[in-house]
Amino acid sequence: MIATVTLNPSLDLNLEVDELKIDDVTRIKHSKLDPGGKGINVSRVVNILGGPTVAYGFIAGREGGQLSLFLAEEGILNSFVALKSGNTRVNVIITERGTGRQTRINAVGPRAEVEDLEELKNRITRLGGGICAVSFMVFAGSIPPGLSHTVYRYLIEEVQELGIRAVLDTDGEALKYGVKAKPFMVKPNTYELERLVGREARKEEDVLSAAKEVLDMGVELVAVTRGGKRAFLVGRDFVYAADPPKIEVVSAVGSGDSFLGAFLLALYRGLGYEEAFRWGIAAGAATAMVPGTGLMKKEDFEKILDMVQVEELE
Ligand SMILES: Nc1ncnc2c1ncn2[C@@H]1O[C@H](COP(=O)(O)OP(=O)(O)OP(=O)(O)O)[C@@H](O)[C@H]1O
Ligand SMILES: [Mg+2]
Repeated sequence: MIATVTLNPSLDLNLEVDELKIDDVTRIKHSKLDPGGKGINVSRVVNILGGPTVAYGFIAGREGGQLSLFLAEEGILNSFVALKSGNTRVNVIITERGTGRQTRINAVGPRAEVEDLEELKNRITRLGGGICAVSFMVFAGSIPPGLSHTVYRYLIEEVQELGIRAVLDTDGEALKYGVKAKPFMVKPNTYELERLVGREARKEEDVLSAAKEVLDMGVELVAVTRGGKRAFLVGRDFVYAADPPKIEVVSAVGSGDSFLGAFLLALYRGLGYEEAFRWGIAAGAATAMVPGTGLMKKEDFEKILDMVQVEELE
């Protein structure tokens, strides 16, 4: 099973309008409420591809209840710790049909206390063995108010002690500190990688040297995705590269999460790194074809998979 942990999930309200009018009324042409948060996206993609997944994290208030219900309706097991006050955040994404312009209005999210963190730690460490053995546990997204940026380090150390391979996908200080726990894998995009190593990594040679620096921090596998540009999968004794297919991009929000979900499911099913990398690239591209925060369709993924080629560089 592939477990995910989302500390600051959301409900994402996607609104389509012709044109966003300021100081005036704008009519909504289409609206859709999606569960949101990076770990949750990973679980949803695993589920779309027919894999087993469980979503952990924090929820709060009625919005939190709704989030849990959304996942249950999709057939995704979830076990969220309910925070004592506040509400799970609702983000608003407005897409203008005329220009394709996207306006994102993000909420901060409810406050988590140290006791909530302990409860979460107890839940995710209880699943170490038994019928629900967890192969990978993904820690993804931002840290909610109330918790320190060292929280991923703490949780990753706890689960890796049980033999679960931790995967970290976050940014800034959370990533810097989380990496100190030596997770099995990280999946930065260009900007996250640059902030992690503290220098620019736009040219391919700079991306590769930055990725190798991350390996030296004790990580086993670094996947660097760069939107529509060539992505790299770097391990201790290999480097793979793949060009994302040319597709009609509608909204790449959640593409990285889709990459991760498909990549890990492929590994879980016993496929090698090269094939798993193809799955990841295809899943990211398939999600980029869907508007707003929507995730990939399985049919698109299957079609695109044939178009993806992986090259071994080293
Ligand atoms: N414009 C694009 N064209 C084709 N494929 C794309 C495009 N954008 C993203 N993808 C696919 O999705 C993968 C991940 O995308 P990206 O690097 O944008 O992730 P990300 O920044 O982590 O996204 P997020 O955090 O919102 O999920 C890419 O490696 C690629 O396979
Ligand atoms: Mg990402």
